[in-house]
Amino acid sequence: MSRVDIAQADIGLIGLAVMGQNLVLNMEDHGFTVAVYNRTLSKVDDFINGSAKGRNIIGAHSIEELVGALKKPRRVMMLVKAGQPVDDFIDLLIPHLEAGDIIIDGGNSNYNDTIRRTAYVESKGLLYIGTGVSGGEEGARHGPSIMPGGSTDAWPHVKPIFQAVAAKVEGGTDGSPSAPCCDWVGENGAGHYVKMTHNGIEYGDMQLICEAYYLMKEALGMSNEEMHGTFAEWNRGKLDSYLIEITRDILGFRDEGGKYVIDLILDTAGQKGTGKWTGISALDMGIPLTLIVEAVFARCLSALKDERVVASKVLSGPSLTFDGDRQAFIQDIHDALYASKIMSYTQGYMLMQAAAAEYGWNLNLGGIALMWRGGCIIRSAFLGKIKEAFDKKPDLNNLLLDDYFRAEVEAAQPGWRRVIAKAVEMGVPVPAISSALAFYDGYRRERLPANLLQAQRDYFGAHTYERIDRPRKEFFHTDWTGSGGDVTSTTYNA
Ligand code: 6PG
Repeated sequence: MSRVDIAQADIGLIGLAVMGQNLVLNMEDHGFTVAVYNRTLSKVDDFINGSAKGRNIIGAHSIEELVGALKKPRRVMMLVKAGQPVDDFIDLLIPHLEAGDIIIDGGNSNYNDTIRRTAYVESKGLLYIGTGVSGGEEGARHGPSIMPGGSTDAWPHVKPIFQAVAAKVEGGTDGSPSAPCCDWVGENGAGHYVKMTHNGIEYGDMQLICEAYYLMKEALGMSNEEMHGTFAEWNRGKLDSYLIEITRDILGFRDEGGKYVIDLILDTAGQKGTGKWTGISALDMGIPLTLIVEAVFARCLSALKDERVVASKVLSGPSLTFDGDRQAFIQDIHDALYASKIMSYTQGYMLMQAAAAEYGWNLNLGGIALMWRGGCIIRSAFLGKIKEAFDKKPDLNNLLLDDYFRAEVEAAQPGWRRVIAKAVEMGVPVPAISSALAFYDGYRRERLPANLLQAQRDYFGAHTYERIDRPRKEFFHTDWTGSGGDVTSTTYNA
């Protein structure tokens, strides 16, 4: 079908890059008629005459034509580059829409922009949704994880489409056997916040896997084929996940010449910013999101390739060969990765709990685990366990206090500690695995050395401190040198 004049499309989609095209085809597979538009018009024609041929997909050559093809209330979804293009399309759409129509942003937008845009679009009498869509090209085509937030009144109008095209997993909250990896997340920026946190956790998972790979390669001298086999085995156990699965495949992949492609790839990581945003939000709210932030910094350090090449010729470290039980150490690496992953998700959930309080969102933490259980990049069996933890106790304060995860960490911790000790001894950097353990050891301590820190602050700046023998919120100052005054600083926390 090509251009028509009657309003018959269920949804319009702007942005025909590969994600957009695949999502349109997925929607059409599920019985929806989709109208499509792209700023470069030839892409519309190519798509209509290509993979969209013979399907209920309508090509539009202008915003006006796109809007004219839609049933009311009109639903227009943008899958365009995050940032200014989203604002530009919103302004292009608004004059053509009427009260109750819905603009949807399916890109990786910053949640602060989505909060602002929701208010702006609502001020025009329209509704707005900012939604995370995860799963890459494959996910978009066959079932992504979709995390929508924004104007609550818009949800009933997009729910049937989004839940139809989303990935499905076992065990819905209503006990249904096939639950969609898509549910309403919350108001204004909530959907994009949860997607951002997903990406931060994705950074953490990827870095942990990279550290496990590095230990196998550098400490144990394992071949790609051996590592391929180890990841294949891990993928059949507790670490069963998409990222372990693709790591297995990457390690076994050779080019036409028989060379392993992994060994040909330059060791400098790129990033588009969502991990960094997660870290910024954590710093703003004072949440110790150490593992994800380490993962971001590990990418930054990797990017200093030229400096590292120079330093590698100047700076020394231990040059030891592994002399222990290799098989046992591989199991220890497994346990270190697993325990660190538990820390990462614990921190990610702490962040979302803080954000819910900060922004007034009523986040369903078990529901989020279900949304991430399938379709998205961090999909895993593990997320099913997180869902179970929140099903058992919806107001669970911290994942580490859940019986299952507490016991899992306890069982994994001897190996986890051995791995870090060995890595330090051999000079192999494992920033995410070791910061995860530092978090665990800090979180489980009743008393930390912050008493000394407070004393130092009070010593040099009269910043005051609270006492263990007095009620909280009573502040004291000591004249540490005998020459200080009795004027104190204010006790505000930035
Ligand atoms: C997804 C991914 C995706 C993200 C890429 C790239 O959920 O499908 O998170 O949204 O854009 O993974 O991220 P970086 O370039 O920052 O690694």
